[in-house]
Amino acid sequence: MLNQVEEASSLAHADLHKVTSLEELESWRVRYLGRKSKLISILRSLSNLPLEERRAVGARANEVKSQIEALFTEKKEEIERCASLTLQHDRIDITLPGEPFQLGRLHPTTKSIKEICDIFVSMGFQIVEGPEVEWEYYNFEALNMPAEHPARDSFATLWVDCETETGARPMLMRTHTSPVQIRVMEKSRPPIRVIAPGRVYRYEATDATHEWMFSQVEGLAVDTNITMADLKGTLFEFARRLFGKDRKCRFRCDYFPFVEPGAEIAIDCFMCGGKGCRLCGNSGWIEILGAGMVHPEVLRGCGIDPEVYSGFAFGMGVERIPILRYGIDDIRLFYGNDLRFLKQF
Ligand code: PHE
Repeated sequence: MLNQVEEASSLAHADLHKVTSLEELESWRVRYLGRKSKLISILRSLSNLPLEERRAVGARANEVKSQIEALFTEKKEEIERCASLTLQHDRIDITLPGEPFQLGRLHPTTKSIKEICDIFVSMGFQIVEGPEVEWEYYNFEALNMPAEHPARDSFATLWVDCETETGARPMLMRTHTSPVQIRVMEKSRPPIRVIAPGRVYRYEATDATHEWMFSQVEGLAVDTNITMADLKGTLFEFARRLFGKDRKCRFRCDYFPFVEPGAEIAIDCFMCGGKGCRLCGNSGWIEILGAGMVHPEVLRGCGIDPEVYSGFAFGMGVERIPILRYGIDDIRLFYGNDLRFLKQF
């Protein structure tokens, strides 16, 4: 009898190792402590035993019974603790705020280009683009600046080495967006109304007001009876929409070889309202674009008869606009890729 008690005890111990869940633990309990278990039937039949044996077996059987009960409680706690730990670990607090996404945004230059283009598109201009690596012909020659023309000096040029079958042909990084005018006039007939945004390059040492790469928006309108009044009206309206109706516009003569007459447009300084300050170099005016009536030679070079057609053209630096609007004091910030700067727009 005592052997059977010992056997039940060691079986219960060994079996407990296989238990991993509360359900398994319950069947383990039934197996070793249930009414039909070996141990309980021994305890129940104790009265049939002779007194001596009854004492010994009874004592040991009760001892084993409490051991198994203790094992049960211990295992139960262990399983419950494990379960709650896993829950803790997998728990999601749906009331916590989410992690903020890093939102991308448009570069200040891109934003200004869009703003400028939107204004002209609403006036019926079409957006076109041209190459940044350009033939000398389009950048200078066709714009009335033949070789040795002194105006070439004002466009510090980055030349590109290139070999062709006929020998080296002069290519460059376009110094302005004006070559797009020529490309458009060669390919299409009036009426023409286009604007051409894009990057331009100058071979220049950089400082707070000079970059070797920046952006321009070019404009061109060619048709019969286009006059200086159309140029003024269009550009005044543009300045009014971009800078607000309270800004004053100044129109003055200027010289560019590809227009005649040429003009420069300035607006009264935002900062000082025309009194003169650091931003406007004490003049009270800020120059925003160059313009003029397309030179008859330029029209003729593109196969457009200057006796029949006339046109106006203009070109503006894009970065100037955010520089003026936000008081940015260094143009190098635009292409420095510093997120602390870019995130502000
Ligand atoms: N291309 C000129 C510049 O870069 C600007 C301009 C364009 C002037 C069109 C007149 C007409 O300075």
